[in-house]
Amino acid sequence: MATVHLRIGDLVWGKLGRYPPWPGKVVSPPKDLKKPRGKKCHFVKFFGTEDHAWIKVEQLKPYHPHKEEMIKINKGKRFQQAVDAVEDFLKKKEKQGGKEQSSEGKGLMNGSEGKGLMYGSEGKGLMYGSEGKGLMYGSEGRGLMYGSIQHVCTRLWSGTLDAPVKMTVVFVVFVWSVQDTRSTSIQAADSTAINGSITPTDKRIGFLGLGLMGSGIVSNLLKMGHVVTVWNRTVEKCDLFIQEGARLGRTPAEVVSMCDITFSCVSDPKAARDLVLGPSGVLQGIRPGKCYVEMSTVDPETITELSQVISSRGGRFLEAPVAGSQQVSNEGMLVILAAGDRTVYEDCSSCFQAMGKTSFFLGEVGNAARMMLILNMVQGSFMATIAEGLTLAQATGQSQHTFLDILSQGQMASTFVDQKCQNILQGNFKPDYYLKHIQKDLRLAISMGDTANHPTPMAAAANEVYKRAKALDQSDNDMSAVYRAYIH
Ligand SMILES: NC(=O)c1ccc[n+]([C@@H]2O[C@H](COP(=O)([O-])OP(=O)(O)OC[C@H]3O[C@@H](n4cnc5c(N)ncnc54)[C@H](OP(=O)(O)O)[C@@H]3O)[C@@H](O)[C@H]2O)c1
Repeated sequence: MATVHLRIGDLVWGKLGRYPPWPGKVVSPPKDLKKPRGKKCHFVKFFGTEDHAWIKVEQLKPYHPHKEEMIKINKGKRFQQAVDAVEDFLKKKEKQGGKEQSSEGKGLMNGSEGKGLMYGSEGKGLMYGSEGKGLMYGSEGRGLMYGSIQHVCTRLWSGTLDAPVKMTVVFVVFVWSVQDTRSTSIQAADSTAINGSITPTDKRIGFLGLGLMGSGIVSNLLKMGHVVTVWNRTVEKCDLFIQEGARLGRTPAEVVSMCDITFSCVSDPKAARDLVLGPSGVLQGIRPGKCYVEMSTVDPETITELSQVISSRGGRFLEAPVAGSQQVSNEGMLVILAAGDRTVYEDCSSCFQAMGKTSFFLGEVGNAARMMLILNMVQGSFMATIAEGLTLAQATGQSQHTFLDILSQGQMASTFVDQKCQNILQGNFKPDYYLKHIQKDLRLAISMGDTANHPTPMAAAANEVYKRAKALDQSDNDMSAVYRAYIH
């Protein structure tokens, strides 16, 4: 974007990371918030999301001259809501004769006595004041308020907070520490705000597989200053990352030869094995000391085999499958389950911080694959059950919207339920997590149950519904398209 001269109060389109240009307003930063060093930037409050971020001037465009062009390019629901919010703002301003009743400088940010820090992301907001004074979490219309950080921590450790809140608390404490060290300023409405303080490893990083997950991961590795060499079977997918500063490897073997640590994230067990054992594959580049990290969701047998062949060449092996989705990967908020060589896990520390919000080390090779499959089995079965509920509501003359409203008020409420149901009701099955991949995970989990002689009847039933959805050509849609198996 071309450089523009802007003042406080100007409406803009701001481009943040991989997000599309988003409508916002140039506002004053909170008193204690440092400007990032280097390029000139403005502090922008984004409409619709209530996020705030420092945006470089070259990533800003004035709102009005570019409105039509932006609206043409971007069609998402959240984007439309953001544009509606600008238009509402403009209407109110007009009614007041152009006099703006600014909430910036008076509202949330300064409401924390100029000491606080605010973070918001896609409809979620966090605010806190000064240490020990207060913490508030709000998510999509719900709000929770806690008297003090000590109070929250007591509830956290005693286990009386539910899971989403726990994650939030961990997150808040982290951001707080960032502010305390003054090592960074809030710069993005995603995890780069959290990860701003990480020091990238000086090891050369390789990445194989730029699908939905790999793309977000590589983008965050680059953002956090890692030196990354990429390879993808369909080579065109590398272009974007080369533009963002990545190097190109011609084959998996070449990437491994060029790098100290190579990650891979591909579709399934067959792809993971082909990549390692195939022609010009990973194995040909492995030398003593080289690290290989398998992030694909595969079965424990495949992982054990890969670990053995890598180790047989003197390589060091770690499995690190991830829980999340494309959106979560883009936001750098994955949950990483690692197992295998602990020293590799430690060497990957800055990479895991860049791509995830947390990581677990689960011991010997195979444990992460097992845990991942169990988690995905639960998620896949749950998704199928939601689809079954929505369709049963319709079949019995009940409103699906009311079903969702009621569900959202109860203990089963979650971002997952809300997003998947909303997408189903809008007929939006754009993949965030491919249906074919969740069906693969169910299949592998059921097989694991077989091996352990443990019954998995729920997963087996869900798997049948996904198989039907695949037969209806839904493989490359989001897992929520399992809904279509119930209506055809
Ligand atoms: N999406 C999610 O939400 C999610 C969440 C957690 C875990 N996972 C797991 O993460 C892994 C990747 O998922 P994804 O969503 O990124 O998948 P994806 O978008 O389908 O991407 C698959 C990647 O694998 C590559 N690939 C497939 N077959 C290959 C082969 N034979 N040789 C070399 N490369 C091959 C593809 O290359 P091309 O580009 O050339 O096709 C692509 O880069 C899967 O194991 C999935 O189960 C996904």
